[in-house]
Amino acid sequence: MIPGIRNFRSGFVFALTILGLAVVLGAPALASAPPRIEGLVNLMPVPASVTVVDGRFRVDESLAVARAITPELKGGPKDRAFRAAARFMSRLAGRTGLFLKQDFLASQASSGDGGIRYAFGRPGRLIPNEDESYVLKIEPAAIVLDAKTDIGVLRGFETLLQLLSADEKGYYFPCVTVADKPRFTWRGLLIDVGRHFQPVDVIKRNLDAMAAVKMNVLHFHLTEDQGFRVESKVFPKLHELGSDGMYFTQAQIRDLIDYASDRGIRVMPEFDIPGHSTSWFVAYPEFSSAPGPYAIERKFGVFGPAFNPADERIYPFFDAFFKEMAGLFPDPYLHIGGDEVEGHQWDANPAIQSFKKTHGLADNNALQAYFNGRLLKILTKHGKKMVGWDEIFQTSLPKDIVIRSWRGPKSLIEAAQKGYQGILSNGYYIDLCQPAEAHYLNDPLPADSPLDDSQKALILGGEATMWAELVTPETIDSRIWPRTAAIAERLWSPASVRNVDDMYRRLGPVSAALEELGLLHLKNLDMLLRRLAASPRIKPLKVLAEVVEPLKGYDRHGQTEYTSLSPFTRFVDACAPESMPARKFKTGVDKFLAGRDPLTAEELRTIMMTWRENHALVLPFLASSPALREIEPLSLNLARACEIGIEALGHLTKGEGQPASWVQEKGAVLAEASKPAAHAELAVVKAIGRLVEACGVPAK
Ligand code: ACM
Repeated sequence: MIPGIRNFRSGFVFALTILGLAVVLGAPALASAPPRIEGLVNLMPVPASVTVVDGRFRVDESLAVARAITPELKGGPKDRAFRAAARFMSRLAGRTGLFLKQDFLASQASSGDGGIRYAFGRPGRLIPNEDESYVLKIEPAAIVLDAKTDIGVLRGFETLLQLLSADEKGYYFPCVTVADKPRFTWRGLLIDVGRHFQPVDVIKRNLDAMAAVKMNVLHFHLTEDQGFRVESKVFPKLHELGSDGMYFTQAQIRDLIDYASDRGIRVMPEFDIPGHSTSWFVAYPEFSSAPGPYAIERKFGVFGPAFNPADERIYPFFDAFFKEMAGLFPDPYLHIGGDEVEGHQWDANPAIQSFKKTHGLADNNALQAYFNGRLLKILTKHGKKMVGWDEIFQTSLPKDIVIRSWRGPKSLIEAAQKGYQGILSNGYYIDLCQPAEAHYLNDPLPADSPLDDSQKALILGGEATMWAELVTPETIDSRIWPRTAAIAERLWSPASVRNVDDMYRRLGPVSAALEELGLLHLKNLDMLLRRLAASPRIKPLKVLAEVVEPLKGYDRHGQTEYTSLSPFTRFVDACAPESMPARKFKTGVDKFLAGRDPLTAEELRTIMMTWRENHALVLPFLASSPALREIEPLSLNLARACEIGIEALGHLTKGEGQPASWVQEKGAVLAEASKPAAHAELAVVKAIGRLVEACGVPAK
């Protein structure tokens, strides 16, 4: 653990997540079988129920979509479902290259019996527990999408698009009946725009991606020590002095909320107080607990500045501020942060100490609870329900607050046992660069949950959490996607859907499909390599980058002091958090060691030869690009490890055991090769180590 990193408990979060995974893996199998989806390769999240029947609905240029109009229905021809239908047709045309007749854009008349017809009972509201269910029936001659709300129609169109298939005759939809609804009502993604600002287009494309995998809450982390990112007309100094000019205007916020709403997504703002608040004090040093002046924080970590709960002046300030923000953000919930109040400013301030005494506040937790109690009154007055990180949990607060559990599932369980609603974030910290599998198996309500049914109902769902110390608009997509799609499935699909290999099988096509929405998670990795190489020819760099992963957890911070002004354009930033070629290689090693089949051995040998020979191809890049020189150890170590792997594979295929000294000697080289370099690590060395170890085990 590195002191001064944002999460001083980061090691704690990480350890618990891994532990959680082990517990889940050991859990008994669930009784109900997952829905049958073989052949329906791209469905993610897996629907609650899928019935496959014979037959295909052929897609050709005559395909039309229309709303099944019933006289009592309200809503205009250009309502949310209509716009979703229009986007569906445009994406379908894009995927198939078909010049679909799109006259439906001008007319809402029913297209008769054929084509796609959708219907819904009422416009959905953007609140928790809204009905998002739908039934999608595909028959050879017609497709019917039926939902209680237009939000259900949106979810159904995403499923339909994922069902698009092809055969020798062309494109088609397989005949199925999908009856679907989410398992959890709160399926969120937190985007931290405080530490690194992310402009409107970044947020919009991520909203599109969220909608594609049926997520429904954007948790907008708008203020941090490093930036105050929303325009306040009442207190304009906040954004003027606290943001380096990088903030959302209120018009932009409204535009984003409309855009999200059009995709059935709520936008919940977070204003992180009383800690994590340096950027506020640039404008208002008098509200902090120690004298200023203050400057926008550039470093990362947990910092001292905190609002002064003993100063009466802050409450009218928050009253006016939250009145303004309550008017800007229509969501019923408002997140007040509350995490990691470091406490030194409070401890050093005599006025705060005497305030604690006169109010009978035993410690800083009690002081924060007092502050939260005052805030709660303000939020309630402005019609908002309070959400906060688990530090805010105090049974003195009313039951309609929501606890965001980040330090471990324990706080979520405790809160539910005391009657409080909760959302799980622990285990969904996508900034830690863990594999999708770890997040996927992390269940807000695991099979061994100690909660009873009424307590379980208080677990609203979970949120993928994109902290932004190390991401910029260029790299954020690759840190969010495609792994967040696995979290989306955990939160939407039945608990019994937890086959990891099957999840990975679907993750590839889902990831590729996100590109049509403008997501840059794949292409920007190449773009960064092209920039580093100052050349469009990057093949050897790509071969290396594809088996390298950024250091996990918060280990990158141990390599150098990153700030919000550091470049995030180096090789490590061009490496995806999870290497798919490495995963494929590991799976191949498992398969080979289990069955020793020659075909798999040949595949492993071929790929290791490619990786070994890649080093010679990388070297010329290092000569011409100083920024790339740091990757030499990675490239060399890949070659060395593969040399050993090829040798080990040779012994194993011939059934030759090796003495312990050989295993030890090769193991030492591999240990060296697994060391971090360029803030990254090779993702295939462990699997090669397993080949080496197998050589030391006498053949049966
Ligand atoms: C947090 O990660 N400090 C909520």
